[in-house]
Amino acid sequence: MTVNVATPVRGRVTRLRHLLGAGDVEDLHLGRLLDRADLLRSTQRSDRPRPLEGMQVALLFEKPSLRTRVSFEVAVTSLGGHAIALGPDEVGLGRRESAADVGRNLSRLVDAIVLRTFAHDTLLEMAAAASVPVVNALTDAEHPCQALADLLTLRRHFGRLAGLRLAYIGDGNNVANSLMLAGALAGLDIRIATPTGYAPDTSFVNQARALAARRRGRITIGTDPVEAVTGADAVYTDVWTSMGREAEADERRARFEGFEVNATLLGHAAPHVAALHCMPAHRGEEISAAILDGPRSLALEQAENRRYVQEAVLIELLAPHVR
Ligand code: CP
Ligand code: NVA
Repeated sequence: MTVNVATPVRGRVTRLRHLLGAGDVEDLHLGRLLDRADLLRSTQRSDRPRPLEGMQVALLFEKPSLRTRVSFEVAVTSLGGHAIALGPDEVGLGRRESAADVGRNLSRLVDAIVLRTFAHDTLLEMAAAASVPVVNALTDAEHPCQALADLLTLRRHFGRLAGLRLAYIGDGNNVANSLMLAGALAGLDIRIATPTGYAPDTSFVNQARALAARRRGRITIGTDPVEAVTGADAVYTDVWTSMGREAEADERRARFEGFEVNATLLGHAAPHVAALHCMPAHRGEEISAAILDGPRSLALEQAENRRYVQEAVLIELLAPHVR
């Protein structure tokens, strides 16, 4: 399904209508979004803008969440809006009502919808029917808000993005897909290593390579963690078993042996290497406790930055003329 994510405004400038995947940010000027997030992070509480005053945002979550759920609620309320959180049993998405009907009805009541769901098509169906912006808070295919927070974290840490070498070790999942797309937009040199059969889908790899070609970025996909990590400025990992795939956990633990991000693996990276993880994390599986909880870890910075990039996204979607 194709959903129009950008509305042309005066010639070539486009305005974002929805944030469904990290690739949607292309026309939004990634730098502007990250600049705004940076500014919001450094703005005193009393000086913060309240452009969402009087607005309502529905947060509809079909899967568990700590960071996304809380950072969105904090973002909406900090900007002066009101957040309405809805769990899976309250709405019965696709069971009690179709995603399209939920999108149509919510559009009459709220100013934006933030959705965490399973199938990406559910998100697309809702966005196609909704007349208000829809934001992807994670689907089985993408986690764009996480990827934007990760770029903000890397930019704040290294002072730049273009040309940074970022290794992603583990499962070629939703987090990897969005990181690849957003990282390609930012001109990163991304090296992904997964066990055979767990690489990101070719459609995402091709989309990321097309974006990278225009930004002098690079996307390399392989199966050797040491090769991917060699010389890396930053190393990223995520859980081996994502939400909804719990039945595969034992098989995955066996297949992913040798893919733990630990001190030995990071010994191949640049001496200044930073370690990233979107969390929740499993210490002793995809990452060692020493690395996740150690001085190289940016995991809690990533979590904090979720709030600020999401504030920037909400302003872009709901109050784009605010400075
Ligand atoms: N990183 C992240 O999205 O965390 P939650 O699943 O807790 O929201
Ligand atoms: N890949 C993980 C990310 C959690 C934030 C999952 O989908 O469960």
